Amino acid sequence: MSKRTEIKITTAEAKRQADIITQLSYHIKGTNLKYFIATFGCQMNAHDSEKIEGCLEQIGYVKAEKESEADFIIYNTCCVRENAELKIFGKLGHLKSRKKKNPNFIVALCGCMMQQDVVLDTLKKTYNFVDMIFGTYNIYKLPELLQTRLETGEPIIDIWETHEDIVEDLPSIRKHDFKSCINIMYGCNNFCTYCIVPYVRGRERSRDVSDIVTEATHLVNDGVKEIMFLGQNVNSYGKNLEEPTTFAKLLEEVAKIDGLERIRFMTPHPKDLSDELIEVMAKTDKICKNLHLPFQAGSTDILKKMNRGYTKEHYLNLVKKIRTAMPEITLTTDIIVGFPGETDADFEDTIDVVKQAKYLSAFTFIYSKRTGTPAATMENQVEEAVVKARFNELIAVLDPISAEYMQNQVGKRFVVLLEDVSKNDKNVLSGRTETGILVHVNADVKDIGEFVEVEITSAKTHYLNGKLV
Ligand code: 5AD
Ligand code: SF4
Repeated sequence: MSKRTEIKITTAEAKRQADIITQLSYHIKGTNLKYFIATFGCQMNAHDSEKIEGCLEQIGYVKAEKESEADFIIYNTCCVRENAELKIFGKLGHLKSRKKKNPNFIVALCGCMMQQDVVLDTLKKTYNFVDMIFGTYNIYKLPELLQTRLETGEPIIDIWETHEDIVEDLPSIRKHDFKSCINIMYGCNNFCTYCIVPYVRGRERSRDVSDIVTEATHLVNDGVKEIMFLGQNVNSYGKNLEEPTTFAKLLEEVAKIDGLERIRFMTPHPKDLSDELIEVMAKTDKICKNLHLPFQAGSTDILKKMNRGYTKEHYLNLVKKIRTAMPEITLTTDIIVGFPGETDADFEDTIDVVKQAKYLSAFTFIYSKRTGTPAATMENQVEEAVVKARFNELIAVLDPISAEYMQNQVGKRFVVLLEDVSKNDKNVLSGRTETGILVHVNADVKDIGEFVEVEITSAKTHYLNGKLV
């Protein structure tokens, strides 16, 4: 078992892992051994899982259709809320018997949850059948960890406390041919008092502009039309680079790439969303007019206790500024209900922000106590019944606002990038407008990945129906 700090890694490290992939492939290719990855949590994890998938496919594992068919199971975990953790422990419990029946069965756990000592202790005590445990900083070492596991037969636990450098050039499998995510930075320095992320993903590290532009150019040459930039707080992108730059400047650089049609990003923090960014968004057609701008709570008092670094007035002014510069923009957000000390009056401020900002949609969360964060030991934790009632009230305010906005789109025409076959109807494709609205339309599967013009024929609360024109 090792729990390391800071190791200097270069792209030579990526090469080393690539060599191990080749060695492993001699043993695994052709064996028809199957892998299954279950990904929990945010887009960052989903993107990490694409890298894991890329490594495993190069080693020669074959993707299992179902978890029950797999010989190698990986859970890429999330710990932002307690529910996610409980779900993972629950699923893990079911794997023990499969491990007994099949000696070649491998169980690996990685991601945010593994960075917590309390989780590691539970795993060692109760789930000691797990073969491989690694964290958020060393996913790129998966080939080496697997090789060690296969050669020694011993369980591997490799969790690092910090890690400054970023390993590029790992193999990766994209879920879609026509769109992709790019990590532009890792970690978070904000320490919102409810949030575990800064403890499990470390301090902010930005990737070099040239590395990001090169990756984006490769993707576009490979057929990608839409790129989503990922970072916990994209507004602080570039501050810690040797030659400091800004997120807005990065966007301007990437927008120059011929063939790239849409640029999205998440997540900007309201406390340092600059006028420069608003200006660049407004004047650059390729940057989608949809902004995910979490406000978390409406009350300035609660925002202070959350350490969010802005007031209700600042947030609402920002919304006004953004809407003035880009009248067509849609806004989405994250909201937490039941933060310690939240009174009825505080909650009314949340409702007030929702009414004024008029979100297209919102991710709504019940506050979840995370051990080790300052909010976990704050007084006046709100009673469960009160939180639930507030949560329901919040949804009852959000939904009609979305529904009214959607209804107003009926009869309009939009350019939609067709993305998937609809879950409910095989003849229907789903796609998104530039403003991020989900649209269902009758179209041929071969049109997935294409931009089409759609006239909206009817509206639901969270999506639109339309026809090709
Ligand atoms: N409880 C509830 N929601 C949380 N989030 C982060 N930490 C917590 C917590 N302890 C939410 C925030 C954040 C989103 C990713 O998850 O709204 O923006
Ligand atoms: Fe968590 Fe706040 Fe950082 Fe977002 S900005 S990851 S909520 S600490």
